Amino acid sequence: MSIRPRILLTRRWTREVEQHLASLYDVTRNEHDVPMTADELRKAMREHDVLCPTVTDRIDAAVLGVADRRVRLIGNFGVGINHIDLAAAKQHDIRVTNTPDVLTETTADLAILLLLMATRRAGEGERELRAGRWTGWRPTHLMGQGLAGKTLGLVGFGRIAQVTARKAHLAFGMKIAYHSRRRAAADIEAGTGAHFYASLDELVATADVISLHCPGGAETFHLIDAPRLARMKPTAVLINTARGPVVDEAALVAALGEMRIAAAGLDVYEEEPRVHPGLLALQNAVLLPHLGSATEETRTAMGMRVAANLAAFFAGRPLQDAVC
Ligand code: DGY
Repeated sequence: MSIRPRILLTRRWTREVEQHLASLYDVTRNEHDVPMTADELRKAMREHDVLCPTVTDRIDAAVLGVADRRVRLIGNFGVGINHIDLAAAKQHDIRVTNTPDVLTETTADLAILLLLMATRRAGEGERELRAGRWTGWRPTHLMGQGLAGKTLGLVGFGRIAQVTARKAHLAFGMKIAYHSRRRAAADIEAGTGAHFYASLDELVATADVISLHCPGGAETFHLIDAPRLARMKPTAVLINTARGPVVDEAALVAALGEMRIAAAGLDVYEEEPRVHPGLLALQNAVLLPHLGSATEETRTAMGMRVAANLAAFFAGRPLQDAVC
């Protein structure tokens, strides 16, 4: 009897993917679906061939460098990998894969949802109505901002940012501007007439809506800080579907509270699942619980993408989504 590889899923995945993986591997599921402790992760590293974590797991040097380690592949469920110490993974010769492409449209949809909710004050409206405070239609009630002809400034111009740009440009007539480390190819810019800003400071001062799409990690920590918030227009709206620590949350609370910018739409937070109490108290902050890729189809596609990487790994084929 052949022995099947042992894989561990740190959280519950969709039924379809769990069944698929169980048909191929000896799968350990985290039945309680709460984040595993560092001790549990280290133990799992000793007992499995593959660890499949998510953004809620801290896969640091202590986890990766555990003695008597058996894991040879980290198959991350998600595209962002700033919760994994890639340098330590390389040092220990552990391969790491992620799940790009399959969540691009869904996450861009959520950026657009936040953009609409924040500019049209949808959260405020729903809270007012549910609290029984709505007194009826009137010309000056909860006026928001229109989008046509306004400038959407994207910070980072990878797949999700490009699709967000396309949706905002084609559906709402927004002008597109972006800042990223590398300027995009001319044909990509031409699709939405995107204008490149070499200076992030200039982009944030020009844009009406600023949407963050850069990776997390040390390089982008507090990229949007108090001075950059101060450069934004008083009517500006900030959208974050990237990673919480890209924004200095305390500085954002101050800017929103003093109406130095108009609104924010956030899906990610500095210390998830904790949300800054100042944000919770603000009417002009739309707050979602990290739902960027949360559709049935996309979460299944993400799991199947992990499965494809595992299949390639065990067949000795190149890993299509290798990040190290
Ligand atoms: C992603 O795919 O990066 C999501 O934010 C969940 O990790």
